[in-house]
Amino acid sequence: MEKILDLIAREVEAVFAGCGYDKKYAKVTLSNRPDLCEYQCNGALAAAKEYKKAPFLIAEETAAKLAENKMFSAAEAVKPGFLNLKLKESYLAGYLNEMKKDAGRFGFEAVRQPKKIMIDYGGPNVAKPLHIGHLRSAIIGESIKRIGRFVGHEVIGDVHLGDWGLQMGLIVTELFHRKPDLVYFDQDFTGEYPEEPPFTISELEEIYPTASAKSKEDEAYKEAAMQATFEMQNGRRGYRALLSHILNVSVTDLKRNYADLNVTFDLWKGESDAQPYIPDMVQKMKDDGYAYISEGALVVDVKEETDTKEVPPCMILKSDGASLYNTTDLATIVWRMKDYHPDEIIYVVDKRQELYFTQVFRCARKTRLVEEDTKLTFHGFGTMNGKDGKPFKTRDGGVMRLERLVSEINEEMYQKIAENQSLTEEKEARETAKTVALSAIKYGDLSNQASKDYIFDMERFTSFEGNTGPYILYTIVRIKSILTKYRAMGKNTADAEILPARSESEKALMLEISRFQAAVENAFAETAPHKICAYIYDLANALNHFYHGTKILTEEDENVRAGYISLLALTKDILEKCIDLLGFSAPERM
Ligand code: ARG
Repeated sequence: MEKILDLIAREVEAVFAGCGYDKKYAKVTLSNRPDLCEYQCNGALAAAKEYKKAPFLIAEETAAKLAENKMFSAAEAVKPGFLNLKLKESYLAGYLNEMKKDAGRFGFEAVRQPKKIMIDYGGPNVAKPLHIGHLRSAIIGESIKRIGRFVGHEVIGDVHLGDWGLQMGLIVTELFHRKPDLVYFDQDFTGEYPEEPPFTISELEEIYPTASAKSKEDEAYKEAAMQATFEMQNGRRGYRALLSHILNVSVTDLKRNYADLNVTFDLWKGESDAQPYIPDMVQKMKDDGYAYISEGALVVDVKEETDTKEVPPCMILKSDGASLYNTTDLATIVWRMKDYHPDEIIYVVDKRQELYFTQVFRCARKTRLVEEDTKLTFHGFGTMNGKDGKPFKTRDGGVMRLERLVSEINEEMYQKIAENQSLTEEKEARETAKTVALSAIKYGDLSNQASKDYIFDMERFTSFEGNTGPYILYTIVRIKSILTKYRAMGKNTADAEILPARSESEKALMLEISRFQAAVENAFAETAPHKICAYIYDLANALNHFYHGTKILTEEDENVRAGYISLLALTKDILEKCIDLLGFSAPERM
């Protein structure tokens, strides 16, 4: 279906053209004075110059024609030359009925030329617990993926595990201290390594911090860890076997954590998967004359004349020949191009890595790892702060682990639900608390423009009132409960016609619904899930306003009542579609 704004614009253009004015003046926008009108056109003001006529005359002339149109209930010229428009109630109802027929998409047509888009998000580091720094990447990336798919693109999510750094060597070293007799440390061993990992996830989670702490105090220990990392990276068999154990155990745990956040990835590739591509890539950079030795290291210059800040060269190999985070990201681009040839790769990463990605992208372009038509996009996000304005910490000042944060919010939500006493069964109350808590976390995050820092305010985010996830869910649940009651009266909620609005609040709700397409389109074009949040907040407000001012189930006219129900059902379906695009869902009751 065409967007309602486009349909309106087309009518206004035809009228402008019919009156002898260029249709470029017929630009229509949403009204910025909703008290006066719904849509407006300011084109008469600009046309006045070209046609040497008073703007008001032009507005009047076009208004007279538009007033006769099937689409408008009012078209008014206002001095000095505004054109104020209101949609006809029957037209709007017709539009909504069309939306309703297109179940699940509400008239949103998939793009004709789908792109292949890869999203690099999540970015957890193996064996290190997920902390809240990883939360934003997961939440934002997941939503961008879902919106992109709904719009019609092929979107591939890749978790890009951090599995190639010093942490791996640290784990190996600590394991050697504890269990030196393990077969993995025997250099002469040539047989098959055991399938059972030599540690559990809780051991692994304890091993890493212990090793990390030791390495900060003990130089020799750190040396050993670096050596182990080096040997692992260079293919020492026993260490590689340990690497795959670490990966397996860790990934199982990560998947569980992400599942709790309603986040899933298509690819579980890591930094280690890029390693095989490094030698050829480096050789080519040298052969083509892009990479050169500077102070022992191999680098590629990436500064540009127009730079206002210094952009240092991109380091490809350290002087000892070791690869770096950069090298891995570049080699990752190599396999992504080879295996997928995406039109775009979007990186959802902390904005503090922006300069780093500028270097990587420029280097990838310069050395032709990507073709001209592949876009590389850095979607940097800000920090999640505590109420003190500093990065979010635990009460005793430590790094907050993701699991802990989630369970604290779950508990808070459970308390609230228990107080409300709307759910008497413990199990349902717990489940519901989890669902609502996730909406609080995700909406609290996504309703902010991603690049901005924001304050994680538990009390505000979990509130059932205001611009929050729980408020949106509450609205959905409210509608569900009305629909259930209606069904209990023996009625079918599905097939009634939505009738022309009978009140201001009903029309306002219908106008909000009609903007669904534009909201989603915009959110995708600007990679801005917060636009969907803003849309559903307006929609939920319009719904609640209508609900408070209207007798719905007690309406006597059966057709009118059925029309209301149909409108509510459509509102609910759209709200649920939108929260699905944001990555959470609504309970049946709360
Ligand atoms: N593992 C990294 C971190 O924790 C994030 C990875 C981001 N993605 C990338 N392609 N570099 O900071």
